[in-house]
Order: sequence, then C-alpha cells, then structure tokens
Amino acid sequence: MTITRRFLLTLSVIAAAPAFAAPPPGDPVRGQRLYQSCMGCHSLDENDVGPMHRGVVGRKAGTVSDYAYSSALKASGLTWDATTLDRWLSNPQALVPGSKMYFSIAQPQDRADLIAYLAGQKPK
Ligand code: HEC
Repeated sequence: MTITRRFLLTLSVIAAAPAFAAPPPGDPVRGQRLYQSCMGCHSLDENDVGPMHRGVVGRKAGTVSDYAYSSALKASGLTWDATTLDRWLSNPQALVPGSKMYFSIAQPQDRADLIAYLAGQKPK
C-alpha cells in the first residue's frame, strides 16, 4: 500500500514537472477569439497602430516595410518564434526596453493560444 502510494506520488511529480518548464500547447481556435484584444491596434494584413501580423511567426522583428517601428525593436535582433512571442506578450518592455507596444497578456495559456493562431496565418 505504502509502496503503491509512493510510486503514484513519484509519478505525479514527474507528470507535473514539464508543465512548469515548457509553455502549454496552444489552441488556435481559442487564439482567434483572443486575437480580438489585439485588433484595437493590429490586423493581419494592414499596418495600423501596430504592424500587420500575417507571417509574423518566423519573421525578424521590426521588418514590415512601411511601418514606423521604434528603433529599439528594429535593433532587437529578435526573430519571432513561440519563445520570443511568449516573452513579448508577457511584457514587451521587459523583452525590448524602449519598444512602443503597451499591452500584455497575463495568462500563459492565453499567450500560447494566441501564438498558435498567429502561427497559422501564413504569408499569402
Ligand atoms: C495598444 C496597442 C496595441 C495592442 C492592443 C497590441 N499591440 Fe502589438 N504592437 C503595438 C505597437 C505600437 C507595436 C510596435 C512596437 C515597436 O515598434 O516597438 C506592436 C508590435 C507587435 C509585434 C512585433 C511585430 C513585428 O513586426 O516585429 C507583435 C508580434 C505584436 N505586436 C503582437 C501583438 C499581439 C499578439 C497582440 C494582442 C495580444 C498585440 N500585439 C496587441 C501595439 C499594440
């Protein structure tokens, strides 16, 4: 009995560990709904207050032509992938001091869902 319980406890510790290390898998359908919170400033295909987003996953930061980025983001040297986008959406100013996006998403699951949605918006 004790052995079984100890075994189960060990198993649950192993199962819980990756949840802290890796971001949760994203749900693009939920991400599409959450994207409405970005649409005050962004759209997929047109520059607005923020740059257009289509193709953003895999793109170098600050490289949409005809959009006036902050010099901080242009000089960041970042490429947008799941990790950099997660950090950007948590706190843009912490990732790129001097950048001009003042908006963040507190919940890791919401960020993962948004990133999964954006990853599906391939360049036309
Ligand atoms: C209040 C306006 C505002 C909102 C809301 C907003 N952003 Fe932004 N975003 C900006 C601005 C402004 C920039 C340009 C930052 C710079 O040049 O420093 C930007 C830049 C970005 C970039 C960098 C793109 C590139 O081409 O390098 C990404 C990615 C991004 N935003 C994602 C999002 C997502 C996802 C959301 C919704 C969860 C969101 N933003 C909500 C204003 C906003």
